[in-house]
Amino acid sequence: MTMKTILLFGALSAFFLSSCTYDRIEVPPVKPVSINCDSVSYQRDVAPIISARCGSCHTASYISGDFTTYEPLKAVVDNGRFRQLVLVDKTMPTVEHLSQEELDVLTCWVNKGAPQN
Ligand code: HEC
Repeated sequence: MTMKTILLFGALSAFFLSSCTYDRIEVPPVKPVSINCDSVSYQRDVAPIISARCGSCHTASYISGDFTTYEPLKAVVDNGRFRQLVLVDKTMPTVEHLSQEELDVLTCWVNKGAPQN
């Protein structure tokens, strides 16, 4: 390998390694202008969004999770799947993506540790 090849290879692996780490810790920016994180409540704010936007699929006995109650929802927040699919990849919901405000509410709530408040 020439010096150039080695440098290029080094730069590329550094790029991929850092982009990997970056993906994992990156969360969408919270927009304090539209939402006051302190006041976000599971009962008042989060549950209605989940019901309206996830409820057509994630109801009782749904194989990929029933999120009509707190505990199973909290479980996918804790194992990181919620953050990954809903907040980072935004592949959930599969159709009709969440509005920025809905994303802000969910991000605030997850960042607070998903309390049952
Ligand atoms: C149109 C149906 C549909 C809607 C609406 C939908 N999902 Fe899903 N969801 C699925 C399917 C199908 C899977 C399984 C495929 C996968 O894991 O990628 C899934 C998987 C998931 C998982 C991973 C579960 C696990 O145990 O790994 C999470 C978390 C999730 N959805 C959250 C949500 C949230 C939150 C919403 C609403 C904001 C939502 N989904 C809306 C169909 C839906």
